[in-house]
Amino acid sequence: MIKDEGSDTMIKVAFYDAKEYDKVSFEHYGEQHDIQFRFFETKLNEDTVELAKGSDAVCVFVNDSVTAVVIAKLYEYGVRMVALRSSGYNNVDVQAAFGKVHVVHVPAYSPYAVAEHAIALLLTSIRRIHKAYNRTREFNFSLSGLTGFDLHGKTVGVIGTGKIGRIFIDICRGFGMKVIAYDAFPAKDSGIEYVSLEDLFRKSDIISLHCPLTDGTKHLIDENAIRLMKKGVVIVNTSRGGLIDAEALLNGIKERKIGAACLDVYEEEADIFFEDRSGHILNDELLSRLISMPNVIVTSHQAFLTEEALNNIAETTVNNIRSYFSKNGICDNELCYRCGNIEECKKDRKERCF
Ligand code: NAI
Repeated sequence: MIKDEGSDTMIKVAFYDAKEYDKVSFEHYGEQHDIQFRFFETKLNEDTVELAKGSDAVCVFVNDSVTAVVIAKLYEYGVRMVALRSSGYNNVDVQAAFGKVHVVHVPAYSPYAVAEHAIALLLTSIRRIHKAYNRTREFNFSLSGLTGFDLHGKTVGVIGTGKIGRIFIDICRGFGMKVIAYDAFPAKDSGIEYVSLEDLFRKSDIISLHCPLTDGTKHLIDENAIRLMKKGVVIVNTSRGGLIDAEALLNGIKERKIGAACLDVYEEEADIFFEDRSGHILNDELLSRLISMPNVIVTSHQAFLTEEALNNIAETTVNNIRSYFSKNGICDNELCYRCGNIEECKKDRKERCF
């Protein structure tokens, strides 16, 4: 379906899991490209998919649930595109979407935002800034229990050396840390010292996760991995919660094996993160227990949240939607389950995925 810019046919987009900070940037870029966003606070799932009726596309974030059932419904309603406002797409059944609904994402909006947040969490944790902040607000100027350690000279193991992982590595090098890395597809001529996953677990003082969540990486950090790690290891996860078996993590902390955990993501975050739950009793025992630990810092999937990133997300998403509904309908940021498969991938030939 072609919807030329400047014609009187607006592209209608059902925008799920909308937050105030989304509306400002999306309305701004949408108006410039004849795209009308209908904002819904609810997340997309099998119960809420009906809200997409009458829309040309849906716009979703990390905790919307784009299952095969949701996709079938979208297709039935004539929705032809799922526009992710994120780079990760583990919440979309891309195989089920193939042939029905085109999926586009924002491959990079600010890798700096995420890498810098990972560092912020790490420094906060190891220098006990969160504790010092609370103390001095109550005029408690005692230093007791606030001893940290130098990052300089420590070994950091980085899992996933893509856009975010590489920026994280550069920052770590600036601190004078030794960097080792593991990636299923190591970058050639990058000057990065790649090691096996097992070696990384054994040698790292700090481990930071920057790989996607896939069937192969689910619970990459589990009981066995933790057993191999150094006593006192600090684990930083700004990627996806499912990379860590949270129960094994909690046990590792209780056994004093893990020195600290910095978590921006949590496997069961979907119904918890991004909302104010301060007046409620949290039903997730595991998360409650983790948060209660003195050496665990949790932020609520906040790593992306900078002004630069929000603007880039809105601009790229609007461009993705625009290019799909334009004359040739090709969008560089389209993805499908065949992406990366040299024989089947059509992207290199500048075609749509299907
Ligand atoms: P990227 O695609 O540039 O890099 C991912 C890297 O992981 C690639 O080098 C890839 O080869 C590697 N990889 C793939 N499978 C692997 C495996 N089995 N084991 C080890 N490495 C593997 O992605 P980018 O932009 O660096 O993002 C990384 C992740 O960060 C995303 O997948 C997403 O889950 C997360 N993210 C989190 C945000 C937040 O707000 N907390 C915001 C943006 C991304």
